[in-house]
Amino acid sequence: MTSFSFATVPLILSAPGATKELGPELRARFPAIRRVLLVTDQGFLRTGLADAPIHSLRAAMFHVEQFTEVVADPPEHVIEKALVLAREHDIELVIGLGGGSSMDVAKLVAVLANSAQSMAEIYGIGNVHGSRLPLVQIPTTAGTGSEVTNISIVTTGATTKKGVVAPQLYADMAILDAELTIGLPPAVTAATGIDAMVHAIEAYTSKHKKNPLSDGLARQALSLLSRHLIRACENGHDLAARQAMLLGAMLAGQAFANAPVAAVHALAYPIGGIFHVPHGLSNSLVLPHVLRFNAEACVEQYAELATIVVPHVDGSVAARAEALAVAMQQFGTITGLPRTLSQVGITASDLDLLADDAMKQVRLLGNNPRTVTREDAYALYKLAL
Ligand SMILES: NC(=O)c1ccc[n+]([C@@H]2O[C@H](COP(=O)([O-])OP(=O)(O)OC[C@H]3O[C@@H](n4cnc5c(N)ncnc54)[C@H](O)[C@@H]3O)[C@@H](O)[C@H]2O)c1
Ligand SMILES: [Fe+2]
Repeated sequence: MTSFSFATVPLILSAPGATKELGPELRARFPAIRRVLLVTDQGFLRTGLADAPIHSLRAAMFHVEQFTEVVADPPEHVIEKALVLAREHDIELVIGLGGGSSMDVAKLVAVLANSAQSMAEIYGIGNVHGSRLPLVQIPTTAGTGSEVTNISIVTTGATTKKGVVAPQLYADMAILDAELTIGLPPAVTAATGIDAMVHAIEAYTSKHKKNPLSDGLARQALSLLSRHLIRACENGHDLAARQAMLLGAMLAGQAFANAPVAAVHALAYPIGGIFHVPHGLSNSLVLPHVLRFNAEACVEQYAELATIVVPHVDGSVAARAEALAVAMQQFGTITGLPRTLSQVGITASDLDLLADDAMKQVRLLGNNPRTVTREDAYALYKLAL
């Protein structure tokens, strides 16, 4: 029997339209709190969908400050700026409302607002001291699962990404409201949805912390995500498909928070960091190649997942594992995402830089079922070119 531990956020509310009642919902759970900070970004604000939750908060006697300057793959200075606002207004509760970028900023603001620690001191695993401000996470993409993970990803310097991993980053509450995701453009829906599927796949094959709870969550997540991704891309207003995507992304988040992601993410980070390719798309560009590379080490597990993504799959274990790689590649093709690194402006002369950078993702590579050398990383990027 596997020994394992499993943690997640204590309260998850999954209901279309739930955030229209955000004020009363939070008032009931945080009766003494007055001043809240909403952390979001301009892209989501433009949809107008933040208006109802903000109105509901104010009607429930919350004083709402807004930090709206989150950008994709948030750099350190964005977090520093949000912290200034939080401290200036003596914020008592932080709400992340947006994609992974907004939720990741919200986590660090909640952790650092009343802390003597600096950003530089908390990178890595378990380096956060003390407690944080109350934290509520509301995803508006069905992708990162950040609403239920203990991870925050920050762009440091010009191109590098670093992670903060600590139990304090688990929120007090996550709210899944598909009405917030209906305006998500098809390309973002596809890329973020594939990111979520990668979380499930990498959790299922995670080398050291694979566990029965994460396995069950990963399987359920893959089932929901693979059955609803195309529907959500083709008809953004399909509320049932949108809620299923949010649920799938959250379950995948719970899975990989406890059985961490690996080489797909390690190879994707430099693509995002250096070339500003969105996180989900970066993953999707390297995914089929990493799956085929890893198959040598975890062919049975991939074959198991293939039966979820391609229900009528048959043949040998190897054939089924290959069917998973093909199916994942097809999600990108059907949804019209770029399929090669060349299509996002990367050339052969960039591959050395990418391979060098990928090797710095030691934490992620250590979770991969098969050892990835620098030569392997280069070869995988070459296949993706
Ligand atoms: N903490 C974690 O566990 C974790 C896991 C994976 C990735 N990440 C990080 O999350 C970030 C990526 O997050 P993401 O993929 O959710 O994208 P994102 O938060 O960067 O948002 C992508 C784009 O979508 C727009 N958008 C968001 N919601 C929208 C909506 N409902 N309607 C219209 N537009 C909307 C945003 O304005 C933005 O332009 C990266 O920084 C990545 O490293 C974190
Ligand atoms: Fe991811």
